[in-house]
Amino acid sequence: MPETEKAGDGRRRGRFLTFEGGEGAGKSTQVARLADRLRQYGVTVVTTREPGGSPGAEALRHVLLSGAAETLGPDAEAILFAAARADHVDRLIRPAVAAGQWVICDRFIDSTRVYQGVTGAVPPRLIAALEAVSVGEILPDLTLLLDIPAAEGLGRASARRGMLTADRFEKDGIDLHERRRDGFLALARAEPNRFAVIDAAQDVETVAEAVWYAVRKRLRV
Ligand code: TYD
Repeated sequence: MPETEKAGDGRRRGRFLTFEGGEGAGKSTQVARLADRLRQYGVTVVTTREPGGSPGAEALRHVLLSGAAETLGPDAEAILFAAARADHVDRLIRPAVAAGQWVICDRFIDSTRVYQGVTGAVPPRLIAALEAVSVGEILPDLTLLLDIPAAEGLGRASARRGMLTADRFEKDGIDLHERRRDGFLALARAEPNRFAVIDAAQDVETVAEAVWYAVRKRLRV
């Protein structure tokens, strides 16, 4: 086993998996399904989400998704997402992976690259600098991109939300959501070894099988 595969005390390092995609793609359902399946194989799994995942980051989640930070402008919003991520990585993700656990995170750096970068016009230089300080060496071993046409995803998200108002990003127009979809697909094309693209317009069972196939194919379970 290469040195980088080992935790500091010689145990095997865990794995870090992320789910990405637009609104209503079914990420949270698939995170839970994959976690259950891995646990059946005796893997210790931690599920988490962004923005959030640690007490400090959950406080920032509220600021970001309520739209309270929108008036600060896209650069400042990106900085707040990165601040939340830095805390989440330091307090939860890095220690869990070092302890040999598998961490599955609902959204991570690719959401910032797309929402703040592609459709938020934050310059690539700032996105890269924020990634460097917030994430360091903690890059996903595998990113599952749940791909769905924007209209279909938004329909699902609004059905799930019911009478509650759409959050800061969900409220954006369909064109923006389509550009986000294209943005995610472009990231997947640029890093084919890290990404697996899953057709998320299929039913839940079929998507769960496709996710499981990708995980088994790419990582040793
Ligand atoms: P959430 O309710 O978790 O949405 P979803 O169920 O679609 O994942 O809200 C997260 C929102 O924050 C979502 O609209 C995407 C956005 N977001 C960013 O803009 N940048 C980021 O770095 C992250 C992690 C999320």
